[in-house]
Amino acid sequence: MTYVVTTNCQDCRFTDCVTVCPVDCFHGDGRMLYIDPDECIDCGACVPECPVEAIFAEDDVPESEQQWTAINAEKAPQLPVVNEKGDALPGADERKKALGFA
Ligand code: SF4
Ligand code: F3S
Repeated sequence: MTYVVTTNCQDCRFTDCVTVCPVDCFHGDGRMLYIDPDECIDCGACVPECPVEAIFAEDDVPESEQQWTAINAEKAPQLPVVNEKGDALPGADERKKALGFA
């Protein structure tokens, strides 16, 4: 199994998740992060850290988000590791509110 980053991360990129990952398996582009399934050890530590609930265990990915499992696997290995907290993207707080998170 692995964990998967889904739509809510797009244009937020809060990066709280990377601070708890014991194996540095988050990789990122300019819009969001992706988890490398070959590196993730399924610890689940990242899930409660994401303020927009973007991360799911592979078995719990909502039906409408299931394309992200393959996208994470494809993109993560091609992108740089992100293992330090950075600034969220411009507009992330507004997007967070729009997504229904206080
Ligand atoms: Fe990292 Fe654990 Fe999250 Fe996998 S489940 S991405 S190992 S923090
Ligand atoms: Fe994205 Fe949430 Fe991490 S917005 S960068 S999955 S904390």
